Amino acid sequence: MSIISKVAGCGAYLPANVVTNEDLAKKVDTSDEWIFARTGIRQRHIANNDEMTSDLAYFAASRAVDNAGINPKDIDLIVVGTTTPDDTFPATAVKVQSRLGLSGGAAFDVQAACSGFIYALSIADSMIRSGQVKTAIVIGADTLSKLLNWKDRTTCVLFGDGAGALVLQAQESDRDGSQTGVLSTHLHSDGNLRDILYCESDLVVGGDPRVIKMEGKEVFKHAVTNLAHVVIEALDSNNLTDADIDWLVPHQANKRIIDSTAKKLKMSDDKVVLTIADHANTSAASIPLALNSAIKDGRIQPGNLLLMEAMGGGLTWGAALVRW
Ligand code: ACO
Repeated sequence: MSIISKVAGCGAYLPANVVTNEDLAKKVDTSDEWIFARTGIRQRHIANNDEMTSDLAYFAASRAVDNAGINPKDIDLIVVGTTTPDDTFPATAVKVQSRLGLSGGAAFDVQAACSGFIYALSIADSMIRSGQVKTAIVIGADTLSKLLNWKDRTTCVLFGDGAGALVLQAQESDRDGSQTGVLSTHLHSDGNLRDILYCESDLVVGGDPRVIKMEGKEVFKHAVTNLAHVVIEALDSNNLTDADIDWLVPHQANKRIIDSTAKKLKMSDDKVVLTIADHANTSAASIPLALNSAIKDGRIQPGNLLLMEAMGGGLTWGAALVRW
Protein backbone atom coordinates (compact mmCIF):
# COMPACT_ATOMS: atom_id res chain seq x y z
CA MET A 1 0.00 0.00 0.00
CA SER A 2 1.18 3.49 -0.74
CA ILE A 3 0.37 6.91 0.71
CA ILE A 4 -1.90 9.28 -1.21
CA SER A 5 -3.47 12.70 -0.45
CA LYS A 6 -7.11 12.71 0.52
CA VAL A 7 -9.12 15.95 0.35
CA ALA A 8 -10.43 16.57 3.88
CA GLY A 9 -12.00 20.02 3.52
CA CYS A 10 -12.53 23.08 1.39
CA GLY A 11 -13.07 26.80 2.03
CA ALA A 12 -13.14 30.08 0.14
CA TYR A 13 -13.29 33.82 0.68
CA LEU A 14 -14.27 36.76 -1.52
CA PRO A 15 -13.91 40.46 -0.67
CA ALA A 16 -17.27 42.13 0.03
CA ASN A 17 -16.85 44.86 -2.59
CA VAL A 18 -18.56 43.89 -5.89
CA VAL A 19 -17.85 45.77 -9.13
CA THR A 20 -20.23 45.08 -12.02
CA ASN A 21 -19.58 45.49 -15.73
CA GLU A 22 -21.89 48.51 -15.63
CA ASP A 23 -19.72 50.05 -12.89
CA LEU A 24 -16.65 49.63 -15.13
CA ALA A 25 -18.45 51.06 -18.14
CA LYS A 26 -18.68 54.33 -16.20
CA LYS A 27 -14.85 54.48 -15.98
CA VAL A 28 -13.56 53.03 -19.29
CA ASP A 29 -14.94 52.72 -22.81
CA THR A 30 -16.58 49.30 -22.46
CA SER A 31 -19.99 47.72 -21.98
CA ASP A 32 -21.65 44.81 -20.20
CA GLU A 33 -22.50 43.36 -23.65
CA TRP A 34 -18.85 43.37 -24.84
CA ILE A 35 -17.43 41.96 -21.61
CA PHE A 36 -20.04 39.22 -21.24
CA ALA A 37 -19.95 38.17 -24.91
CA ARG A 38 -16.12 37.99 -25.05
CA THR A 39 -15.45 36.54 -21.58
CA GLY A 40 -18.60 35.39 -19.74
CA ILE A 41 -17.92 37.89 -16.92
CA ARG A 42 -20.72 39.93 -15.29
CA GLN A 43 -19.04 41.12 -12.07
CA ARG A 44 -15.95 40.68 -9.88
CA HIS A 45 -15.06 41.09 -6.18
CA ILE A 46 -12.35 43.69 -5.56
CA ALA A 47 -10.27 43.94 -2.36
CA ASN A 48 -10.11 47.26 -0.53
CA ASN A 49 -6.72 48.99 -0.30
CA ASP A 50 -6.13 47.54 3.16
CA GLU A 51 -7.24 44.00 2.23
CA MET A 52 -4.16 41.99 1.30
CA THR A 53 -3.72 38.58 -0.29
CA SER A 54 -2.78 37.08 3.10
CA ASP A 55 -6.11 38.29 4.56
CA LEU A 56 -8.08 36.53 1.84
CA ALA A 57 -5.86 33.44 2.11
CA TYR A 58 -6.24 33.30 5.90
CA PHE A 59 -10.06 33.48 5.78
CA ALA A 60 -10.23 30.78 3.09
CA ALA A 61 -7.80 28.58 5.04
CA SER A 62 -9.75 28.98 8.31
CA ARG A 63 -12.95 27.96 6.56
CA ALA A 64 -11.23 24.93 5.01
CA VAL A 65 -9.88 23.89 8.43
CA ASP A 66 -13.38 24.23 9.96
CA ASN A 67 -14.89 22.30 7.05
CA ALA A 68 -12.32 19.50 7.48
CA GLY A 69 -12.96 19.38 11.24
CA ILE A 70 -9.24 18.87 11.91
CA ASN A 71 -7.12 20.16 14.74
CA PRO A 72 -5.14 23.07 13.21
CA LYS A 73 -2.10 21.89 15.19
CA ASP A 74 -1.92 18.89 12.83
CA ILE A 75 -1.11 21.13 9.85
CA ASP A 76 2.54 20.62 8.95
CA LEU A 77 2.52 22.29 5.51
CA ILE A 78 0.98 25.46 4.07
CA VAL A 79 1.52 26.21 0.37
CA VAL A 80 0.06 29.37 -1.13
CA GLY A 81 -0.16 29.75 -4.89
CA THR A 82 -0.05 33.50 -5.47
CA THR A 83 1.33 36.12 -7.83
CA THR A 84 0.39 38.97 -5.51
CA PRO A 85 2.17 38.27 -2.19
CA ASP A 86 1.83 40.98 0.48
CA ASP A 87 5.61 41.26 0.68
CA THR A 88 8.52 40.24 -1.53
CA PHE A 89 9.46 38.24 1.55
CA PRO A 90 8.54 36.63 3.84
CA ALA A 91 6.02 34.44 2.02
CA THR A 92 2.27 34.95 2.28
CA ALA A 93 2.11 31.38 3.59
CA VAL A 94 4.05 32.20 6.77
CA LYS A 95 1.63 35.06 7.50
CA VAL A 96 -1.25 32.61 7.15
CA GLN A 97 0.60 30.14 9.37
CA SER A 98 1.05 32.77 12.06
CA ARG A 99 -2.61 33.90 11.92
CA LEU A 100 -3.72 30.29 12.27
CA GLY A 101 -1.70 30.23 15.52
CA LEU A 102 0.85 27.78 14.12
CA SER A 103 4.63 27.61 13.90
CA GLY A 104 7.30 25.06 13.08
CA GLY A 105 5.77 23.41 10.00
CA ALA A 106 6.76 24.26 6.44
CA ALA A 107 5.10 27.28 4.82
CA PHE A 108 5.99 28.83 1.46
CA ASP A 109 4.54 30.45 -1.67
CA VAL A 110 4.51 29.15 -5.24
CA GLN A 111 4.48 31.61 -8.13
CA ALA A 112 2.93 30.20 -11.28
CA ALA A 113 0.41 32.97 -12.09
CA CYS A 114 -3.05 31.58 -12.90
CA SER A 115 -1.71 28.00 -12.66
CA GLY A 116 -0.58 28.65 -9.08
CA PHE A 117 -3.21 26.46 -7.42
CA ILE A 118 -2.42 23.42 -9.61
CA TYR A 119 1.31 23.91 -8.95
CA ALA A 120 0.72 24.28 -5.18
CA LEU A 121 -1.51 21.19 -5.15
CA SER A 122 1.12 19.19 -7.02
CA ILE A 123 3.88 20.14 -4.57
CA ALA A 124 1.75 19.44 -1.47
CA ASP A 125 0.62 16.11 -2.95
CA SER A 126 4.24 15.12 -3.67
CA MET A 127 5.32 16.00 -0.13
CA ILE A 128 2.48 13.94 1.33
CA ARG A 129 3.21 10.96 -0.95
CA SER A 130 6.91 11.07 -0.02
CA GLY A 131 6.02 10.98 3.69
CA GLN A 132 7.49 14.42 4.43
CA VAL A 133 4.18 15.84 5.74
CA LYS A 134 0.81 14.47 6.81
CA THR A 135 -1.63 17.40 6.75
CA ALA A 136 -1.36 20.26 4.26
CA ILE A 137 -3.36 23.34 3.41
CA VAL A 138 -3.16 24.26 -0.27
CA ILE A 139 -4.31 27.81 -0.94
CA GLY A 140 -4.84 29.76 -4.15
CA ALA A 141 -5.08 33.48 -3.36
CA ASP A 142 -4.64 36.60 -5.45
CA THR A 143 -5.46 40.29 -5.49
CA LEU A 144 -4.68 41.00 -9.14
CA SER A 145 -6.80 44.16 -8.91
CA LYS A 146 -3.71 45.75 -7.33
CA LEU A 147 -1.75 45.12 -10.55
CA LEU A 148 -4.30 46.51 -12.99
CA ASN A 149 -4.16 49.64 -15.08
CA TRP A 150 -7.75 50.78 -14.48
CA LYS A 151 -7.57 52.88 -17.67
CA ASP A 152 -6.71 49.87 -19.89
CA ARG A 153 -10.03 48.34 -20.95
CA THR A 154 -8.26 45.34 -22.49
CA THR A 155 -7.14 44.06 -19.06
CA CYS A 156 -9.03 45.83 -16.26
CA VAL A 157 -12.36 44.16 -17.08
CA LEU A 158 -10.95 40.63 -16.83
CA PHE A 159 -9.79 40.15 -13.24
CA GLY A 160 -11.13 39.88 -9.70
CA ASP A 161 -9.80 39.03 -6.22
CA GLY A 162 -10.38 36.02 -4.01
CA ALA A 163 -8.98 32.96 -2.25
CA GLY A 164 -9.78 29.28 -1.92
CA ALA A 165 -8.20 26.49 0.10
CA LEU A 166 -8.14 22.70 0.37
CA VAL A 167 -7.01 20.60 3.32
CA LEU A 168 -5.11 17.49 2.22
CA GLN A 169 -4.37 14.57 4.52
CA ALA A 170 -2.13 11.54 4.06
CA GLN A 171 -3.97 8.26 3.85
CA GLU A 172 -3.07 4.75 2.78
CA SER A 173 -4.40 3.84 -0.66
CA ASP A 174 -7.14 1.23 -0.59
CA ARG A 175 -6.09 -2.42 -0.54
CA ASP A 176 -7.90 -3.08 -3.84
CA GLY A 177 -5.99 -0.27 -5.50
CA SER A 178 -9.03 2.02 -5.80
CA GLN A 179 -8.30 5.53 -4.58
CA THR A 180 -9.97 8.65 -3.39
CA GLY A 181 -7.90 11.83 -3.31
CA VAL A 182 -5.35 13.30 -5.70
CA LEU A 183 -4.77 10.76 -8.50
CA SER A 184 -2.15 12.72 -10.43
CA THR A 185 -0.94 16.21 -11.30
CA HIS A 186 0.71 17.41 -14.52
CA LEU A 187 2.76 20.62 -14.76
CA HIS A 188 4.26 22.44 -17.75
CA SER A 189 5.79 25.80 -18.60
CA ASP A 190 7.37 27.71 -21.48
CA GLY A 191 9.37 30.79 -20.55
CA ASN A 192 9.82 31.66 -24.22
CA LEU A 193 6.28 33.03 -24.09
CA ARG A 194 6.92 35.40 -21.18
CA ASP A 195 6.26 38.50 -23.29
CA ILE A 196 2.61 37.73 -24.07
CA LEU A 197 1.58 37.94 -20.40
CA TYR A 198 3.65 39.54 -17.66
CA CYS A 199 3.91 42.09 -14.89
CA GLU A 200 7.30 43.61 -14.13
CA SER A 201 8.62 43.90 -10.58
CA ASP A 202 9.17 47.10 -8.60
CA LEU A 203 12.89 46.64 -9.20
CA VAL A 204 12.28 47.06 -12.96
CA VAL A 205 9.60 49.75 -13.03
CA GLY A 206 11.13 51.92 -10.29
CA GLY A 207 8.52 54.37 -9.07
CA ASP A 208 5.97 53.61 -11.81
CA PRO A 209 2.90 51.49 -11.03
CA ARG A 210 3.29 47.78 -11.79
CA VAL A 211 0.58 46.66 -14.22
CA ILE A 212 -0.37 43.47 -16.06
CA LYS A 213 0.45 43.49 -19.76
CA MET A 214 -1.19 40.94 -22.02
CA GLU A 215 -1.56 40.07 -25.68
CA GLY A 216 -5.01 38.60 -25.17
CA LYS A 217 -5.42 36.89 -28.52
CA GLU A 218 -2.04 35.16 -28.27
CA VAL A 219 -2.73 33.99 -24.71
CA PHE A 220 -6.12 32.73 -25.83
CA LYS A 221 -4.60 30.63 -28.65
CA HIS A 222 -1.98 29.03 -26.41
CA ALA A 223 -4.56 28.36 -23.66
CA VAL A 224 -6.82 26.43 -26.01
CA THR A 225 -3.94 24.29 -27.34
CA ASN A 226 -2.06 23.69 -24.08
CA LEU A 227 -5.15 22.88 -22.04
CA ALA A 228 -6.37 20.40 -24.66
CA HIS A 229 -3.01 18.58 -24.43
CA VAL A 230 -2.72 18.55 -20.65
CA VAL A 231 -6.24 17.24 -19.97
CA ILE A 232 -5.61 14.31 -22.34
CA GLU A 233 -2.23 13.70 -20.67
CA ALA A 234 -3.96 13.55 -17.26
CA LEU A 235 -6.60 11.09 -18.46
CA ASP A 236 -4.14 8.87 -20.35
CA SER A 237 -1.77 8.60 -17.41
CA ASN A 238 -4.64 7.22 -15.29
CA ASN A 239 -6.08 4.96 -18.01
CA LEU A 240 -9.27 7.02 -17.88
CA THR A 241 -11.36 8.53 -20.68
CA ASP A 242 -13.39 11.71 -20.96
CA ALA A 243 -16.51 9.67 -20.20
CA ASP A 244 -15.14 8.96 -16.69
CA ILE A 245 -15.06 12.64 -15.65
CA ASP A 246 -17.94 13.81 -13.49
CA TRP A 247 -16.87 17.46 -13.23
CA LEU A 248 -14.55 19.76 -15.12
CA VAL A 249 -13.35 22.42 -12.66
CA PRO A 250 -11.36 24.80 -14.86
CA HIS A 251 -9.41 27.97 -14.20
CA GLN A 252 -11.90 30.73 -14.97
CA ALA A 253 -10.07 33.03 -17.41
CA ASN A 254 -12.53 33.16 -20.27
CA LYS A 255 -15.75 31.22 -20.87
CA ARG A 256 -14.77 30.68 -24.50
CA ILE A 257 -11.50 28.95 -23.43
CA ILE A 258 -13.47 26.78 -20.97
CA ASP A 259 -16.03 25.89 -23.66
CA SER A 260 -13.22 24.81 -25.96
CA THR A 261 -11.74 22.43 -23.34
CA ALA A 262 -15.19 21.05 -22.51
CA LYS A 263 -15.82 20.42 -26.21
CA LYS A 264 -12.50 18.59 -26.52
CA LEU A 265 -13.61 16.36 -23.62
CA LYS A 266 -17.13 15.97 -25.07
CA MET A 267 -18.53 17.32 -21.81
CA SER A 268 -21.93 18.99 -21.67
CA ASP A 269 -22.27 22.42 -20.02
CA ASP A 270 -23.95 20.96 -16.96
CA LYS A 271 -20.74 19.04 -16.11
CA VAL A 272 -18.59 22.17 -16.06
CA VAL A 273 -18.28 24.23 -12.87
CA LEU A 274 -18.50 27.88 -13.93
CA THR A 275 -18.01 30.84 -11.62
CA ILE A 276 -16.53 33.29 -14.10
CA ALA A 277 -19.76 35.32 -14.37
CA ASP A 278 -19.63 36.21 -10.65
CA HIS A 279 -15.89 36.10 -9.89
CA ALA A 280 -14.10 36.97 -13.19
CA ASN A 281 -10.50 35.71 -13.40
CA THR A 282 -9.21 35.42 -9.83
CA SER A 283 -5.91 33.86 -10.98
CA ALA A 284 -4.66 31.16 -8.56
CA ALA A 285 -7.90 31.41 -6.55
CA SER A 286 -10.30 30.54 -9.34
CA ILE A 287 -10.17 26.72 -9.17
CA PRO A 288 -10.61 26.40 -5.38
CA LEU A 289 -13.33 29.08 -5.50
CA ALA A 290 -15.16 27.06 -8.17
CA LEU A 291 -14.65 23.84 -6.21
CA ASN A 292 -16.02 25.42 -3.07
CA SER A 293 -19.17 26.63 -4.82
CA ALA A 294 -19.91 23.20 -6.33
CA ILE A 295 -19.30 21.45 -2.98
CA LYS A 296 -21.47 23.88 -1.05
CA ASP A 297 -24.41 23.52 -3.46
CA GLY A 298 -24.11 19.72 -3.48
CA ARG A 299 -23.10 19.21 -7.10
CA ILE A 300 -19.79 17.53 -6.24
CA GLN A 301 -20.43 14.29 -4.34
CA PRO A 302 -18.10 11.72 -2.74
CA GLY A 303 -16.65 9.40 -5.37
CA ASN A 304 -16.95 11.95 -8.21
CA LEU A 305 -13.98 12.28 -10.56
CA LEU A 306 -12.83 15.90 -10.96
CA LEU A 307 -10.55 17.25 -13.66
CA MET A 308 -8.96 20.62 -12.86
CA GLU A 309 -6.88 22.60 -15.35
CA ALA A 310 -5.29 26.03 -15.63
CA MET A 311 -3.02 28.17 -17.75
CA GLY A 312 -1.38 31.47 -16.88
CA GLY A 313 1.59 33.78 -17.18
CA GLY A 314 4.91 32.07 -17.76
CA LEU A 315 3.41 30.55 -19.66
CA THR A 316 2.57 27.90 -17.10
CA TRP A 317 -0.15 25.29 -17.38
CA GLY A 318 -1.23 22.13 -15.65
CA ALA A 319 -3.98 19.72 -14.68
CA ALA A 320 -4.98 17.59 -11.70
CA LEU A 321 -7.28 14.58 -11.44
CA VAL A 322 -8.96 14.16 -8.06
CA ARG A 323 -11.38 11.47 -6.90
CA TRP A 324 -13.56 13.29 -4.32
N1 ACO B 1 -14.55 46.73 -24.09
C1 ACO B 1 -14.83 47.03 -25.36
N2 ACO B 1 -13.97 46.79 -26.36
C2 ACO B 1 -12.81 46.22 -26.06
C3 ACO B 1 -12.44 45.89 -24.75
C4 ACO B 1 -13.38 46.17 -23.73
N3 ACO B 1 -13.15 45.88 -22.43
N4 ACO B 1 -11.21 45.32 -24.74
C5 ACO B 1 -10.80 45.30 -26.03
N5 ACO B 1 -11.75 45.85 -26.81
C6 ACO B 1 -11.71 46.04 -28.26
C7 ACO B 1 -10.31 46.07 -28.80
O1 ACO B 1 -9.74 47.35 -28.68
C8 ACO B 1 -10.54 45.65 -30.24
O2 ACO B 1 -11.00 46.76 -30.95
P1 ACO B 1 -10.53 47.00 -32.47
O3 ACO B 1 -11.05 45.82 -33.22
O4 ACO B 1 -11.19 48.29 -32.83
O5 ACO B 1 -9.03 47.06 -32.42
C9 ACO B 1 -11.71 44.67 -30.14
O6 ACO B 1 -12.33 44.92 -28.88
C10 ACO B 1 -11.27 43.23 -30.19
O7 ACO B 1 -10.20 43.04 -29.25
P2 ACO B 1 -9.47 41.64 -29.11
O8 ACO B 1 -8.34 41.78 -28.15
O9 ACO B 1 -9.18 41.12 -30.47
O10 ACO B 1 -10.64 40.76 -28.45
P3 ACO B 1 -10.65 39.23 -28.14
O11 ACO B 1 -11.81 38.59 -28.79
O12 ACO B 1 -9.31 38.57 -28.35
O13 ACO B 1 -10.96 39.21 -26.59
C11 ACO B 1 -9.82 38.83 -24.47
C12 ACO B 1 -10.02 39.77 -25.68
C13 ACO B 1 -11.13 38.73 -23.75
C14 ACO B 1 -8.76 39.44 -23.58
C15 ACO B 1 -9.38 37.43 -24.96
O14 ACO B 1 -8.34 37.54 -25.91
C16 ACO B 1 -8.89 36.54 -23.84
O15 ACO B 1 -9.65 36.14 -22.97
N6 ACO B 1 -7.61 36.16 -23.84
C17 ACO B 1 -7.08 35.23 -22.84
C18 ACO B 1 -6.92 35.82 -21.48
C19 ACO B 1 -6.34 34.77 -20.54
O16 ACO B 1 -6.63 33.60 -20.67
N7 ACO B 1 -5.46 35.15 -19.65
C20 ACO B 1 -4.76 34.06 -18.94
C21 ACO B 1 -4.62 34.14 -17.60
S1 ACO B 1 -4.17 35.67 -16.90
C22 ACO B 1 -2.81 35.40 -15.85
O17 ACO B 1 -2.12 34.43 -15.94
C23 ACO B 1 -2.46 36.50 -14.87
